[in-house]
Amino acid sequence: MVIEKDTILYFSGTGNSLQVAKDISGELGGVQLCKLASLIDENKVEVKSKILGIVFPVYYAWLPLVVESVLKKIEIDKDTYVFAIATFAGSPAEVLNKLSNTLQSNGKTLNSGFLIRMPGNNIYYFGAMSLKRQNKDFKREKEKVREISYIIKLRKNCKYELSKLLIDIPIDRIFIKSTNKIMENFHIRDKKFWVNENCNGCGVCKSICPANNIEIIENKPKWKHNCEQCTACIQYCPNEAIQWGIKTVKRKRYRNPNVNINELKTKETS
Ligand SMILES: Cc1cc2nc3c(=O)[nH]c(=O)nc-3n(C[C@H](O)[C@H](O)[C@H](O)COP(=O)(O)O)c2cc1C
Repeated sequence: MVIEKDTILYFSGTGNSLQVAKDISGELGGVQLCKLASLIDENKVEVKSKILGIVFPVYYAWLPLVVESVLKKIEIDKDTYVFAIATFAGSPAEVLNKLSNTLQSNGKTLNSGFLIRMPGNNIYYFGAMSLKRQNKDFKREKEKVREISYIIKLRKNCKYELSKLLIDIPIDRIFIKSTNKIMENFHIRDKKFWVNENCNGCGVCKSICPANNIEIIENKPKWKHNCEQCTACIQYCPNEAIQWGIKTVKRKRYRNPNVNINELKTKETS
């Protein structure tokens, strides 16, 4: 596959990264959006466009594994301007460093890299934050998108963003060490998903899973152990029937209000 038009590749579970990708594309004009996960089965991806953007959420101070896999096999023209934006909820740590290294191992430099704070969606640990706090993040996102777009339009090379304060460095190191363990078993953490009696087999979870990790068998979802932990299935289940362990039963679901569920779907609901 060859990408010739200016493109933003995005990965998004609950819409934050898609919102950012759409807003950046709106500011730049003429930049198409492409679901990054749709490239996973391509043998070869060549990028020959003038601009390539990569927008994704931070997962435990890492890139989503699917983002890493696609970037490892992508061939990017030496003249392509590459920017990345990581959306995060509290601790982005050195995620852009990781992304830069991944690109470098493939012979490509990251021209600019940015962080945008968005509402948290890590329901394995927390429920959705209040609407007031979400709106604060959305307001800041608008401002940051304008700043970033200005830099991209000028094709400026700039150092990618890391956590802001000096004190963050040792904290980030500890955080990365503890999360490395989680990442070892990442894909099979879906073993803890289950559905309660509210599940009617509607298939929304299957249609929204960006990793194509869910099948509906005997009218119930089955997770295939290739999970990206994006939380889309649990957050968008219309009956709140999906749970992960026992702690999610009472947690408030999060869905980015600026993105329509149909924009996130990968398939029609069956
Ligand atoms: C499994 C998981 C792990 C996460 N880890 C981090 C993290 O290490 N640091 C952070 O700041 N946010 C973390 N988050 C929050 C997301 O990065 C953030 O909410 C992001 O904007 C979600 O983007 P999306 O709506 O496009 O999926 C995590 C979320 C999930 C689901």
